[in-house]
Amino acid sequence: MPIAIKINGQDRSLDVEPDTPLLWAIRDTIGLTGTKFGCGISACGACTVHLNGRAVRSCTLPVSLADGGTVTTIEGLAAAGTLHNVQQAWIAHQVPQCGYCQSGMIMAVAALLDHSPNPTDDEIDATITNICRCGTFARVRRAIHSLAEG
Ligand code: FES
Ligand code: FES
Repeated sequence: MPIAIKINGQDRSLDVEPDTPLLWAIRDTIGLTGTKFGCGISACGACTVHLNGRAVRSCTLPVSLADGGTVTTIEGLAAAGTLHNVQQAWIAHQVPQCGYCQSGMIMAVAALLDHSPNPTDDEIDATITNICRCGTFARVRRAIHSLAEG
């Protein structure tokens, strides 16, 4: 049975094994490569996307668990050509360095702010556990707080 997902507003029917990680369905089957592979064990967050409005680590999530669901990737975060406010803050605060972790980081932060628009440092620490080898954590925190302040 094909897997049906709505991804970035488009309905797709995927002919993949149900235990295929969502990440590979997104990257290889659908061809959206903005979502990155880092560790493959749910540890780094590079593969973070939104499933039904929640941040998930797609490298270990079987695509069957997304069947009938709505997925947003970094390619779908900007609405109608306008950058999402997290993307705008990332530019304003010059967050990305090499950039590899940043699509996952941005998706994780966007989901956090959707559910908690003014997060404390403790909340940020507990929720944004994405790993950045370039060490952008201080800039990430500054950009999140700038959004919370409006
Ligand atoms: S690649 Fe998914 S958490 Fe690292
Ligand atoms: S910006 Fe390089 S790994 Fe995060």
